[in-house]
Amino acid sequence: MASLFLLCLGFLVLLGGHGVWTDSGMEEEELFGLLQVMGSLLEDPTWAEQHSSPCAETPWPGIECEVSEGSSVFHVTKIHISPEIVDPPCKSTAKLSEWVGSLRFLKTLSLIKCFSVSPFRLTDGVVEAISGVEVLALESNPSLGGGIPAAISALKNLRILCLSQNNLTGVIPPEIGKLSNLEQLDLSHNALEGRIPERIGGWRNLGILDLSWNVLESSIPPRIGELESLEKIDLSSNNLQGEIPASLGELKRLTLLDLSRNSLSGRIPETLQNLNQLQYLILEQNPLNTTVPSFLGSLPLLRVASFSGCQLSGEIPASTLSGLTNLTALSLDDNCLSGELPPEIWRLENLNTLNLSRNHLTGEVSPPPEFMVRLGERLDVRENRGLCTGEESVSKLLQIPSCSSKPVFTTNATREGGDDRSRRIDDDDDNLKPKFYTGGTSKDPPAKFYPPLLLLRYLCSVNVFLLLLT
Ligand SMILES: *[C@@H]1O[C@H](CO)[C@@H](O)[C@H](O)[C@H]1NC(C)=O
Ligand SMILES: *[C@@H]1O[C@H](CO)[C@@H](O)[C@H](O)[C@H]1NC(C)=O
Ligand SMILES: *[C@@H]1O[C@H](CO)[C@@H](O)[C@H](O)[C@H]1NC(C)=O
Ligand SMILES: *[C@@H]1O[C@H](CO)[C@@H](O)[C@H](O)[C@H]1NC(C)=O
Ligand SMILES: *[C@@H]1O[C@H](CO)[C@@H](O)[C@H](O)[C@H]1NC(C)=O
Repeated sequence: MASLFLLCLGFLVLLGGHGVWTDSGMEEEELFGLLQVMGSLLEDPTWAEQHSSPCAETPWPGIECEVSEGSSVFHVTKIHISPEIVDPPCKSTAKLSEWVGSLRFLKTLSLIKCFSVSPFRLTDGVVEAISGVEVLALESNPSLGGGIPAAISALKNLRILCLSQNNLTGVIPPEIGKLSNLEQLDLSHNALEGRIPERIGGWRNLGILDLSWNVLESSIPPRIGELESLEKIDLSSNNLQGEIPASLGELKRLTLLDLSRNSLSGRIPETLQNLNQLQYLILEQNPLNTTVPSFLGSLPLLRVASFSGCQLSGEIPASTLSGLTNLTALSLDDNCLSGELPPEIWRLENLNTLNLSRNHLTGEVSPPPEFMVRLGERLDVRENRGLCTGEESVSKLLQIPSCSSKPVFTTNATREGGDDRSRRIDDDDDNLKPKFYTGGTSKDPPAKFYPPLLLLRYLCSVNVFLLLLT
């Protein structure tokens, strides 16, 4: 292999001297560097021969070049290796050759599912070699381990940093706050620990912040409210503590806020009512120990609200339900809610999932037939000892006792009911939570995913892909 490259180089030197090797349209050092980089990543030993002129006659779909102004010399601006381009993407001994440093015009480095056996680390040397990149997407590389170096702050042009689904450990270096051009930061599905850096207020252009599925355990820094461009925040499945910061209410562009599966406690700040672009408010599985917020009705675009397992108590305020014309899924299950169901709940015209199970709700439940038909098995009011219903048929469907007979609700009924229900599952509905349980890759813990989260999860790759197309 090495001899092949030496041979190549020999050729170049013979043919082109020290200038541009005309056949390839590239400077010889850059061409040689590219061949080295690809050779150290890809399995195919004939790649260099087959793509001896990768910017011109023998292009490769994962490589993009640009002609520099006022000359006809090509420069490599993008390397993108993923299963859509070549399958399997990289060889088992893959490594990133230090020759990547010779690609001085490289703007995008995107290596997806590349390092799965041979260990790879983001060393200071690697960072230095790619110091000009705007997009760094190293995703789904199980053998990309170690920490994120503080030197990453040297990547001054970085707009998109996606290090999702690797094997990264250690803390998020505070220096990352210096990357003032960041538009997307996705460090999800790693084993990062410690704090969310306090000094994150400088990311004025940051639209997406995804730190989900790590083991972060600080409180959420209040300065998050300074990130005025934020549209999506996913901090779910960490061990974050303290209260939900009121400053989140300043993020006027926010469409998704997912803080689920953490250890957040205390109030749900009233300021969140200012988030008039918010579509997804996912707070489930946090020991909040508070009441159902009364302001949901002032979030006009709200589509999904989940407060499952949040230790909520008190009644469901009727006022919070009016005006939620866009609401499609409401989960209040597994709390300590009491009192009767406000009839406003049946008037949520776009609702198609409602889970109120496992609470202490009381009184008679009588959803309109249209509502029952629309929600089907996605209407769950089981395991509320005090709920009953008037009609025998409704009692069967909802699996709650009829008010006249007053039987004691048993765990047996729930289990048998569960079996009944599974026969009626409507697979087409996007908001049915069980559908989003994913076995995932073996590394992923089983998780419930809502469609937007899936979207968020693949945003990095999509963007990289889009960039590729442009
Ligand atoms: C992930 O990192 C741990 C150590 O932090 C290591 O033991 C394990 O082998 C790594 N996984 C892979 C696939 O390299
Ligand atoms: C929940 O809050 C109440 C006061 O509102 C308090 O008495 C109770 O101890 C809290 N429970 C937990 C688990 O923090
Ligand atoms: C959501 O609300 C907006 C404005 O209130 C409206 O234009 C849009 O049609 C609604 N979407 C749905 C699916 O109801
Ligand atoms: C409602 O939530 C409970 C957990 O609190 C869950 O077991 C049940 O499957 C959910 N029902 C539906 C229809 O999703
Ligand atoms: C639960 O179901 C089992 C078997 O179906 C039955 O023997 C038992 O009596 C039931 N328990 C109650 C409380 O209904």
